[in-house]
Amino acid sequence: MLPDTAYQVIHDEVMLDGNARLNLATFVGTWMDPMAQRLYAETVDKNLIDKDEYPATAAIEERCWRLLADLWHAPAVASALGTSTVGSSEAAMLAGLALKRRWQQARRAAGKPADRPNLVMSSAVQVCWEKFANYFEVEVRYVPVTEDHLMLDGYELERYVDENTIAVVAIMGVTYTGCYEPVDQIAAALDRIQAETGLDVPIHVDAASGGFVAPFLQPDLAWDFRLPRVASINASGHKYGLVFPGVGWVVWRHEDAVPEELIFKVAYLGGEMPTLALNFSKPGAQVLLQYYNFLRLGRDGFTAVQQSCQDVAKYLSAGIASLGPFELLSDGSDIPVFAWRLRVGYTDKWDLHDLSAQLRQRGWMVPAYPLPDELTAQTVQRIVVRNGLSMELAGHLLDAVRECVTYLDGFTSPMPKQGRTGGAFHH
Ligand SMILES: Cc1ncc(COP(=O)(O)O)c(C=O)c1O
Repeated sequence: MLPDTAYQVIHDEVMLDGNARLNLATFVGTWMDPMAQRLYAETVDKNLIDKDEYPATAAIEERCWRLLADLWHAPAVASALGTSTVGSSEAAMLAGLALKRRWQQARRAAGKPADRPNLVMSSAVQVCWEKFANYFEVEVRYVPVTEDHLMLDGYELERYVDENTIAVVAIMGVTYTGCYEPVDQIAAALDRIQAETGLDVPIHVDAASGGFVAPFLQPDLAWDFRLPRVASINASGHKYGLVFPGVGWVVWRHEDAVPEELIFKVAYLGGEMPTLALNFSKPGAQVLLQYYNFLRLGRDGFTAVQQSCQDVAKYLSAGIASLGPFELLSDGSDIPVFAWRLRVGYTDKWDLHDLSAQLRQRGWMVPAYPLPDELTAQTVQRIVVRNGLSMELAGHLLDAVRECVTYLDGFTSPMPKQGRTGGAFHH
């Protein structure tokens, strides 16, 4: 094939994908400004692992994670440790591994068995934590989400934590609802457990989204290294770090938290550069784009972008709540993400999957999915407001939701929901 032909074939096929900007399911960046795109095109050939060959890119990577260590209040940035990753998933693997190995070392040093590590987390964790536990053979202890405890909040934590617990994972920006778990309450519960049992259990904060939101929108909320129990934090550069897909970050409060055996020394600029990563090769451009955002936006710029996302999220959640059929689970006041469910008793003629399908016909992708665990009978729908969903577009989205509800309410079906056919959808 000629290059033009091959290009056209693929260009045409991916037209069948949804429009990324109207994809309100994803947390991952779908918009960057033209200068960022120019930088991306110029640096797309850089392999981040070639630190000898690309020392400037390697230096920028380190500058980025030290900047994040500072943003997240590491007490001594000079003795923190961090790395870029492909996303929060790789970051979770590395943070989990460091916790597991550190626990094993301590257990062996004390002459105790180290073969049954466990990790405590909410049942509403993102799937990357299930993968970590599965791939690296750690037992998961899920704290169930219930109507009374919609997230991990320290309640009855003593029932889950024991001498084999390598850490508790707290989530800043629960994937299902966008709510912050109260890391300070979880830390206080672990303080009580330590006072009673002597067990000193660290916290890892999965701040995939919140790591780039809370420092700007809720600067007084102590969820990060201000809490002495927080050992490590991950965040996705490609979510509210505002970069195109392919970059995440993990930072440890102190380099001692990462056992030497996990660090590989790479000869670099005449010195030795410690690296820890699951991948060898990975794109360098995304790291440069992250740095671009730090320079371009600074603290004020990040605050302005996240604030405008939050304004849009609150406008949309208030609009959706006022339509009548829906009840909010969150309103976008933590990260700019909110979820709602159908009010009990509103209708048995349609549900949120039908609404999702109707919106999809109009180009909008707004997923509906069940809550975890005890709440699986409940379906919720969620909108992730990202940079690029303007107030103007949000107005159109709200109109679309209103029209879809009118449409769904309007069709009359003599059949119960299970028995109806496509034909029953006519007005
Ligand atoms: C709380 C949380 N943790 C981890 C992840 C995984 O992040 P990534 O897609 O960057 O690997 C997500 C993604 O949505 C998330 O919401």
